[in-house]
Amino acid sequence: MVDRLGCELVTASLKDTRSSELYRRALEVIPGGVNSPVRAMRSIGRDPIFIARGEGAELIDVDANRFVDYVCSWGPLIHGHAHPHILAAVTAAAANGTSFGAPTPGEVELASEVVRRIDSVEMLRMTSSGTEAAMTAVRLARAATGREPLLKFAGAYHGHSDGLLAQAGSGLATQGLPASPGVPASAAAATIVVPWNDSDALVAATERHELAAILAEPLPANMGLVAPDVGFLALLRERADANGALLVLDEVISGFRVARGGAQELLGVTGDLVILGKIIGGGLPAAAVGGRAELMRMLAPDGEVYQAGTLSGNPVAVAAGLATLELLDEPAYLRLSAITERLAEGLREAASNSGGAGGYPVQVATMPGLMTVFFSERPVASFADAQNCDLDAYAAWCRELLARGVYPPASQFEAWFPSLAHTPEQIERTVEAAAAAFACLSQPAGQR
Ligand SMILES: Cc1ncc(COP(=O)(O)O)c(C=O)c1O
Repeated sequence: MVDRLGCELVTASLKDTRSSELYRRALEVIPGGVNSPVRAMRSIGRDPIFIARGEGAELIDVDANRFVDYVCSWGPLIHGHAHPHILAAVTAAAANGTSFGAPTPGEVELASEVVRRIDSVEMLRMTSSGTEAAMTAVRLARAATGREPLLKFAGAYHGHSDGLLAQAGSGLATQGLPASPGVPASAAAATIVVPWNDSDALVAATERHELAAILAEPLPANMGLVAPDVGFLALLRERADANGALLVLDEVISGFRVARGGAQELLGVTGDLVILGKIIGGGLPAAAVGGRAELMRMLAPDGEVYQAGTLSGNPVAVAAGLATLELLDEPAYLRLSAITERLAEGLREAASNSGGAGGYPVQVATMPGLMTVFFSERPVASFADAQNCDLDAYAAWCRELLARGVYPPASQFEAWFPSLAHTPEQIERTVEAAAAAFACLSQPAGQR
């Protein structure tokens, strides 16, 4: 069976696999067969792949197929799968007991390490997910300012709490509309949504509303990777100060990935509060909110802002996070940057050698350890630009990559996560697979 672009539909050959059997069973007991929507791979028009194990930068599925993995658990696995140093730390911690509901030494070590790395963080409170950390940051910002409205950017994701699941209506800066049934209109309306990189809309919104917080991913990676324009982060800082709002920087993806001190170090911006996740838990459930001591001391039991969690600061997750950070020194970041650039360069070449005279039209956006291949003729600077990409072509290209042993993010709006475990040989194999996949997209209908 072929799709509208004429490429073989991989699902057709997967009918009798163990993955498809598991998926059939999963559909009966788990909504959509998955525990988080993007895993279903619906936006690239195929069924999910059930994973048996990971080794370094490779995934092995339940049918014994191997893939070079560019999802890496959507960010936490900066050292790849089952890294021996991290495994040793996790098993040692688990052997001492998996949870106590009481403080442990590792939490002090991890908080101190984060404070050493990120200038804007003087204190840290751990949670089990980025969603919870973002909720806590919002509550703190509202308590600190005595205001309710929030400003966020179209295409940014800060977890799935009600007020942050708002999407923009039409116009430049708008009151948010619920982005999901079940989100109260009142919760979404307290969130102003502004297009990313739109200075005029940002200035107008900050002149019009008295905000509790401006929330931003300093390096947005949930509409694909869309870097801030020069000066835009400085404007965010300036507008937050002029407004009396807190600047809450969501570094769940960029934290400890793009530099030792995250996007704040790389791009020279300072948040009042910072949301961390993914790498801080080293592949186990952990996240955190951090910031200036006077703000963080507003949290219970020092202050009156309530926040809690049965498994917050879980000792096994903390051990994984600490072991992960231990391996992230300056040479590691230089290496990650080189790996990302080699991959991006190879994909650009593969695209430009396909599809006739001008090559296949894609834009490869990168930051150290992050990448997106946008199926667009023009650079992508906003969510609207990302939405205008050729999503069908991206989907077909991803299916072709999977058929050739490469596991890309199954959505144009998710970033690729190259890791320190990716070898030059795996990168070259990826580039070859990508070239073949571009060639398939480029062939005229009827000859594919
Ligand atoms: C920037 C950002 N913030 C918050 C979250 C929510 O984190 P979690 O999935 O741990 O709840 C995510 C998840 O991908 C994210 O990318």
